[in-house]
Amino acid sequence: MTLDLPDAAATQRLGELLGRSLPAGSILLLEGDLGAGKTTLVQGIGLGLGISDPIVSPTFTLVNEYTEGRIPLYHMDLYRLEPAETEALYLDQYWAGQDLPLGIVAIEWAERLIAVPTPSLHLALQTSASAKRRARLTSAGEFNWAAYLGNLPAQFA
Ligand SMILES: Nc1ncnc2c1ncn2[C@@H]1O[C@H](COP(=O)(O)OP(=O)(O)O)[C@@H](O)[C@H]1O
Ligand SMILES: [Mg+2]
Repeated sequence: MTLDLPDAAATQRLGELLGRSLPAGSILLLEGDLGAGKTTLVQGIGLGLGISDPIVSPTFTLVNEYTEGRIPLYHMDLYRLEPAETEALYLDQYWAGQDLPLGIVAIEWAERLIAVPTPSLHLALQTSASAKRRARLTSAGEFNWAAYLGNLPAQFA
């Protein structure tokens, strides 16, 4: 599924929808160049979850945890890591549901992961010659995302 994101507000609105709708245990793999809008989308997720703390890029901290919303938000940015290094972070603790409560895991630069966790929602932000962006959503593994997101293009138009 492809959605047009004409401006940053649209990117944020898509995030907000995800934050309102996705169930605990959701893994969102975000891909796209620097400046494509990944952090903007996660800020929208924060809004949708009802988080009032500012969502800031976890480029240096690697993982930011927000627990004040409907469900927790775990926000990661793997930009600075080599795939082999991502293994050592034990990121699966964020979706295993054992030591930490399940929430929404949003991973920027998910292409750095060695193994793709499933089920997951894959969201690629594409930039074009114009300033506009496009989001391409696909899923990895068995999960009925539509049950949670409904008819996204219709809601989003
Ligand atoms: N759909 C969009 N159209 C135009 N600009 C956008 C869009 N989405 C985000 N932006 C802008 O792009 C810039 C970089 O966004 P950011 O979310 O930090 O990107 P990333 O995390 O992918 O590096 C921000 O100034 C943001 O407002
Ligand atoms: Mg970012």
